[in-house]
Parts: sequence; C-alpha cells; structure tokens
Amino acid sequence: MTSPNLDAAGRYPAGSAAFPHRSLTGLAGLAPWEILFLLDEAEQWVELNRQPHKRNDRLAGLTIINAFFENSTRTLLSFEIAGKRLGADVVNMHAAQSSVKKGETLIDTAMTLNAMHADAIVIRHQSSGAVQLIADKVDCPVLNAGDGQHEHPTQGLLDALTIRHAKGAEFAGMRVTICGDILHSRVARSNIHCLTTLGAEVRVCAPPALMPADIEALKVHPFHDFDAALVGSDVVMMLRLQQERMSGQFIPSPREYRHLYGLTLDRLAKAKGDALVMHPGPMNRGVEIDSNVADLAQNASGARSAITTQVEMGVAIRMACLDVLTRRTRGLEGWA
Ligand code: CP
Repeated sequence: MTSPNLDAAGRYPAGSAAFPHRSLTGLAGLAPWEILFLLDEAEQWVELNRQPHKRNDRLAGLTIINAFFENSTRTLLSFEIAGKRLGADVVNMHAAQSSVKKGETLIDTAMTLNAMHADAIVIRHQSSGAVQLIADKVDCPVLNAGDGQHEHPTQGLLDALTIRHAKGAEFAGMRVTICGDILHSRVARSNIHCLTTLGAEVRVCAPPALMPADIEALKVHPFHDFDAALVGSDVVMMLRLQQERMSGQFIPSPREYRHLYGLTLDRLAKAKGDALVMHPGPMNRGVEIDSNVADLAQNASGARSAITTQVEMGVAIRMACLDVLTRRTRGLEGWA
C-alpha cells in the first residue's frame, strides 16, 4: 500500500505520526496506513498470546475502565484479557449494576470515570454517537466497543487481521460479501469502512427492509439475492438479525429468512472454492448460518470457517489498540 506516510522501505514514520488519533471511535476516515499500522502492531500480540506465558507489562500502573451499557461476551472479555496481559489494572463497569439504573446520565457517568483518573475508557453503548460524546468530555483515550448502529471499530480491525492471516496481505482484488441485517449492524459499517479503505471489493446482501437506504454512499455493491452475491467471493461474512434494535417486523419468519439468506453448505459452494467463512458472533445457528458451515474445519476445496480465529485476533487487536492509544500517557518518545 503506497502512502505519503511510509518511507521507501515501507516503514511507518516514528512516533505518533503513525497513528495521530487520541481515541478510536470509528474506522471511517482512517487512512489505509493507519489501519495497517494497528494490524501490524497486533502481530506481536498474536505471537505472545500463543505462548504459555502471555504477559508483557508495558501498561503496568495504568488503569483501564471497561464501561459496558450493553451485553457482551467477546468484546468485554477480550478487552479485559488484553489489558491484563499488558499489565494494566482493569475494572469493568456493568451498567445494569451501576448508578445508571438510578437515573444517572451518560455524561455524569463519564465525568465520574474521568475523575477516577482512568488512563483509557472502553465503552459499549446502545446509542450511536454516545462514545464520541464521552470521548469529547474525558481526558483519556476512549475506545469504542460498539455504539448503536454506528461502529464497532475493533471488530472491523480484528476481522481484517483474520482475513490477512488467512488470505495474505493484499486486500486489493479481494471480494468480501457481508450478508445479514446490514441496516442495524455496526459490525457491517466498521468492516465496510475498513475493507474498502484497504482496497477490497465489498458486497452487502440483505432483504430490502434490512438494507440502509444510503448504502451506495458507502462504496459497496448491494445485493438482495444472496446466491448472486456469493459468486466469486473470497470471504463470506454472516451477520445475525439484531432483534434488539428492531421495532416492528422486518422479516416474515426466521424460517423464510434462512431459506433466502442463511449460509448452508450448498450455498457456500457458490463462493470461491477456498472461501473463508466469518461471523462476529453471537451466532443464531440454523438462522443466518448452519452449524456445519460455522464449524467447518476445511472442506476438500479449502473452504473453512474462521470464527474462532476472529475471537483469537480480537485479543491481539485490543492489545494493540490499548498499547498505541496509551503511548502519550506513558511518554514514549515521539508520542508526547
Ligand atoms: N462480536 C461482538 O461484539 O460480540 P459480543 O457482543 O459478544 O461482544
């Protein structure tokens, strides 16, 4: 990837010029080399996480607060593991057990966390834009762990890292098909921003009711026919129906949805023979994806599921993001 920020040998500039942002609230607008910098930073943590001893104490003495206003398994646990493996003190705030339940506002909650001198705050919230609101108020870096229908940037990054491990470093010329509830999906948005920025061709497929009206503005190719969308796909990324964000009926029935948009083994055969199957989780097996596809180790033509690899890459990406975004706090040379 050519870039005015890379030298002739393809090295990143020293210090904060490689990633000059205080927070990570989304992937929209990031330069390709900024995304690649985070992916490259994550590689050392992929290696470390595969060792029996998984500690590197570069964040020792720092406090990271995970403030989750929505449920999570993968994102919350992987941010917690990431912070702990880097030696930070990690505290989790679950909104259901917090003073949010007594009517405290989001801003007052954020100012309370700020007063505790957190060195990074990780936030998941049901409202699009809530994370940016907090990032504008507090003194430390803020990492978006998913806000409403807006973005889930570390998911986009971990998905790109998973694809790079499976398919190689060249995203240009790669065809990625994302199928499911595109309308309500922050995962879809972050993946679209990430993958189109890196040069991949992105197809999105959904029933008309679950396709955003402005989808063409995101530089993707929209489809309503899943079989047609799959043709020539290197990667097939499935999304669940986000019932918690739906008011009213968006699909006739889960059975009909599966018939038209579920990923079965037969349907997977329409993609490239060695297609990579992905799903951010949580999955609704038997609706958007069949179990024999979700658990596919590798078939005769090389197609396989990368769903557990996505989870593995999630820890490494979150370690990279926490490390990079706290470099100013730690006074690293070039990051002051
Ligand atoms: N992919 C993802 O965000 O999963 P969780 O909701 O379990 O964090």
